[in-house]
Order: sequence, then C-alpha cells, then structure tokens
Amino acid sequence: MTNMRVNEERLWADVMALAAITDPARPYTRRSFSPLFLEGRAWLRARFEAAGLACRIDTAGNLIGRREGNADRTRTIMLGSHSDTVPDGGRFDGIAGVLVGLEVLRVLAESGQTLSHALELVDFLAEEPSEFGLSCIGSRAMSGRLTPLHLEYAAPWGEKLGPAIARMGGTVAALHEARRGDIAAFFELHIEQGVILEQDAIEIGVVEAIAGISRIELLFTGRADHAGTTPMGRRRDAAVAAADLIGFVARTASALAASGQGHVAATVGVIEISPNASNVVPRSARLVVDLRVSQRAVAEAFLVSLRQAAEQAADAARVVLERFEILSDTPPTPCDASLRKLLSQAADGLGLSAIPIVSGAGHDAAHIAAVAPSSMIFIPCRDGRSHDPEEWAEPAALAAGAAVMLHAVLARDAQEPPLLIED
Ligand code: GLV
Ligand code: MN
Ligand code: MN
Repeated sequence: MTNMRVNEERLWADVMALAAITDPARPYTRRSFSPLFLEGRAWLRARFEAAGLACRIDTAGNLIGRREGNADRTRTIMLGSHSDTVPDGGRFDGIAGVLVGLEVLRVLAESGQTLSHALELVDFLAEEPSEFGLSCIGSRAMSGRLTPLHLEYAAPWGEKLGPAIARMGGTVAALHEARRGDIAAFFELHIEQGVILEQDAIEIGVVEAIAGISRIELLFTGRADHAGTTPMGRRRDAAVAAADLIGFVARTASALAASGQGHVAATVGVIEISPNASNVVPRSARLVVDLRVSQRAVAEAFLVSLRQAAEQAADAARVVLERFEILSDTPPTPCDASLRKLLSQAADGLGLSAIPIVSGAGHDAAHIAAVAPSSMIFIPCRDGRSHDPEEWAEPAALAAGAAVMLHAVLARDAQEPPLLIED
C-alpha cells in the first residue's frame, strides 16, 4: 500500500459545495439540461481545472478532465459518475462518484507520481431519467448506444434531445466521436442506495453485476365526459385502464421476486392524467413503467405479459392503447472480474471489510461495460435512503471509498504497460 492519503475534509467540503447548487425550493434538485445543472457543471469544471486536469466537453455533452500518462498515446483509466439529480433528490447519488474521482486524481497529482496510463474523470451527462424520457445519455453515447431515434425524443417543452445535447456543449453531428475504444478500465464509486452494507456493518461493496433496466411508455386514450352525468356503463375512462395496469405491474413483479428469479422490481413512477380535473372523466393516461431484473429472460417475459395486460386493461375500460413504446432496454451487466479482484484486494490492504453485492439501481458503468472493462464499488448510506433529500453518507465512508479507488487505480496501472492505441 502506498502512503498517499485522501483528504476527507476536502472531499466533504466539495460534496457540500455542490449540494448548495440546488433549486432552493426543492433541495436537492439539479436536473440535467437545466440552468442549475450548467451552474453545477461550471463549478465542477473549475474544481477539475484547479486539480490540474485538462477539461473538455465531448460531443455527447460529457464533462471530461484528463491527466496524461507518461507514455505517448496510452490507453486511459477512467473514473466517473454523474452530477445530475432526480427531482427532490439527494447530495450523494452520482455526486459522490464524481467528487471521489476528483479526490483520487488530486491525491495522485499531489504525490508527483505520473501513471503510465492517462487518467480521466467524467461527469456523464444525464444519468437520471431526463425530461426526454431517457437516462444515461452521456454513457450511452460513450459506448455507442445513443441512437438517432433517441435524439428525436422530445421534452414536454417541445425541445428534442439532439439540440438539448448541443445546448450542454455537445456536437451532435459528431456524436460518434464520443464513442471510446481506448478505455483500459472504468471505475465508479456510488452510494449503495440500499441497506445491506449498513445492516452488516460492511465498509465496501464490490459490485458483481448491475441490474438491467427497461422503461416503457404507455398511453391510454378514452373520452372526456361530464363526471356527474355520464352513466358508469357509458364511460371510456383512461384512468381506469391505467389503474388496472399499475396493479398488474406491482402484482407481477412481486410474484416474480418471490419466486426466486433473481432481483426483480417494477415501478410506475410517471402517471399523467388529462385533463386532470375532478369533475371530468379522464380522456388520457400516460404511464412510464420502470422494470429492473438481474436475469434477462425475466425482462423479456415481463415485456410480453405487460403488453397483453395493457391491451386487456384497455378493452375492459373501452379505451385505446394508443402507445406502447420501449424507451430504453438495458440488459443486466456483470462487472469485470479482474477489476473486482483489484478492488477487493485494495479494500483488504486498507483493512476495510468488503463483500460482493448486486446493484438494483442503474449506473453509467453498465453502459461503459459495452466498450471497456467496467467496475463499481458501493459505500454504505443511511437507512438505504436515496432519490430523496434524506440521502446521507458519512464523510469517513466517502474517504474509505476514495482510498479503495486510489489503490485499485494504482494497481491497475502497475498491472501491464498501457497498450498503444493503433491508428
Ligand atoms: C438511477 O438512479 C436509477 O434509476 O437506477
Ligand atoms: Mn439516481
Ligand atoms: Mn446514481
């Protein structure tokens, strides 16, 4: 183990400073593509530059800080996560990974030691589901998974994703340039967003696999009518079909989870009824279903039964299933075995307890895994709370995670000379 030390106070001060860049009425909210997100980015970029990193925004709108290795045209060891939040989110989800990465790179710079590999720190664009109905936009682009169809997704205010990426500093016409083939290893730290580490008093979770996520948009269309005069038998109430489907999603996911088919969770987190007036029979209902599984076959079967259930719910309520669109469909992703080993060895060497763990949440690492060996560690968070202002991680837990990342990066760098990139 090296005697380089992470600076817990400095890391904590960074987390609190970024947390202060929030919608004051809804702490902690810094939605991707918003002016506040750009404000957070400007602060981050200044911190990256103060750490001696050369900064750029890639063509997909990712903020990247880079420190060259000691050889020409080397492969890159990349660290990163995201600085955007869900509405009314927390101070640590994603942010912990970006700022721990910054601390690791700062400690390395202060040590005066140059690694063989180039090092990069990334704030991926829009990891959380954005107003465009898509998550992990920057990491999808970096792995070549952001499609022309995705660029046509529109936000409620009418803007399309392509122009919005340009507004974040990206260059959509050259989006392919964001795809990377030079990443030797990717490391992401994240709060667990669950209770396992805290319950068992474990300091580090070494992620074995990241659950797959499918998001499906449904639109039921019926007819608006007077709520007082329209007989029950004559109604075409879109909300009735939506309610039926919400029940189906919860019952089916609960049954699958109880039947030993790995991790299964499903949520209907978006419900929009129109015209949303107490005395009008709902004309339309828009839902977004979020499905998480650790076994791909379970997602495939669920999607088939969801469509059937939606058609049946529409028939029963005499409405039309106008849209059934798979917005995104990411398969479960194993983390790289050799990087997991380095992370476990780093935890051991530092005297930290560590266990293997599966991620039910989605992460940028799941996309980067398509183009590079990719890995994650989790640190404990209080009560497993996340996507909520109550989200909390202890300063010492962040520092312990940073120390593991630092040592794993050093170990990976020492493992083999960086391969030269072929032209
Ligand atoms: C990311 O926050 C997710 O929804 O899993
Ligand atoms: Mn999140
Ligand atoms: Mn996250």
